[in-house]
Amino acid sequence: MSLPKLVCVVGARPNFMKIAPICAALQARQTIEPFLVHTGQHYDAAMKETFFRQLKIPEPDVDLGVGSGSHALQTAQIMQRFEPVLDQAAPFAVLVVGDVNSTLACGLVAAKKQVPLIHVEAGLRSFDRTMPEEINRVLTDQLSELLFTTERSARDNLLREGIAEAKIHFVGNVMIDALLRHLEQAIPPVQTLARYGRRAPSEFGVLTLHRPANVDEPRVLESLLKALAAVSRRVPLVFPCHPRTYQRIERFGLNAILDRAEILVTEPLGYLEMLGLVRAARLVLTDSGGLQEETTALGVPCLTLRENTERPVTVTEGTNTLVGADPDKILAGVEEILQTGGKRGRIPELWDGRAAERIVAAIEAEFL
Ligand code: UD1
Repeated sequence: MSLPKLVCVVGARPNFMKIAPICAALQARQTIEPFLVHTGQHYDAAMKETFFRQLKIPEPDVDLGVGSGSHALQTAQIMQRFEPVLDQAAPFAVLVVGDVNSTLACGLVAAKKQVPLIHVEAGLRSFDRTMPEEINRVLTDQLSELLFTTERSARDNLLREGIAEAKIHFVGNVMIDALLRHLEQAIPPVQTLARYGRRAPSEFGVLTLHRPANVDEPRVLESLLKALAAVSRRVPLVFPCHPRTYQRIERFGLNAILDRAEILVTEPLGYLEMLGLVRAARLVLTDSGGLQEETTALGVPCLTLRENTERPVTVTEGTNTLVGADPDKILAGVEEILQTGGKRGRIPELWDGRAAERIVAAIEAEFL
């Protein structure tokens, strides 16, 4: 007898660690057949294959092979290519995670075809519509029939936007499921840095940077890199560099700032390499959403290079502090961490490694 089919969508790097525990929970239950669609938004081996392999995500049933482009082009191509796949798969629902263009594009196709949409990581809001992700979040939530939240603030955001309470389920954080499950396999920094001919310093920070607001404007990026170079003279930094950031640094001729600093620039690292580095880091400087949560779960101090966060629990309960792109605030934040150890934080409610199980149970209750 064939099982009811659930189309699960992934597209970009931050989706992979969210879908992995959901696939594992579906596999364990054997009540629903997952049909995995990869849109191809991220395609480099370092941005995709490594994650599938390390997180043991099943091979996608379909790869839409969309690749990069403007927001309109990328979103439109995903929609166009997803529609026939959805027709053919004929699932009882479509599940999307996070806030990338693939999330919204597939959500919109599903909703128009009246296939119920399930959104994992619903209700997060930065209240900053200059972020493409914020638009993706608001619209995906409006289209969804079942909304799974990671923190309590998300429910209030959704209710304010007129989402019916019965659709909202506070289940915890699937990304933390993935983190807890892989901690033991995390690759020690010594091993990762040896690949770059470096020895692991006794203390180091981890840096990531890729938001358009930080990297697309030459003057902003230059000022940030100069501040980070100053930070690196207090604590050396490892900087796994997103391809879009690397392209900007080259195009704006800013390499020399990095060359003169104590910053080891690497290509994007795998999940297990990154987990090993972050766990051992004295501090993390980032504009990523996921790292704000992972550092909170690991108890590692995090300085977020943004003015706002859609994940406020990482600030109110976790180890996260917002410092924006202001060099003085960044340096003061680093100094405080080096002198006091930074915020201790506590693990937010339901970030216990069982979010995916709760999600599958709620899907079964709703649809089977
Ligand atoms: C996307 C997500 C962002 C997420 C980030 C994580 C949207 C709107 N943004 O941003 O929320 O935090 O992923 O990485 O969906 N590129 C490569 N190889 C790849 C993929 C991208 O070189 O495998 C380069 C291309 O030049 C591309 C650029 O990176 O144009 C941007 O890629 P894109 O998928 O448009 O957005 P991200 O910046 O990665």
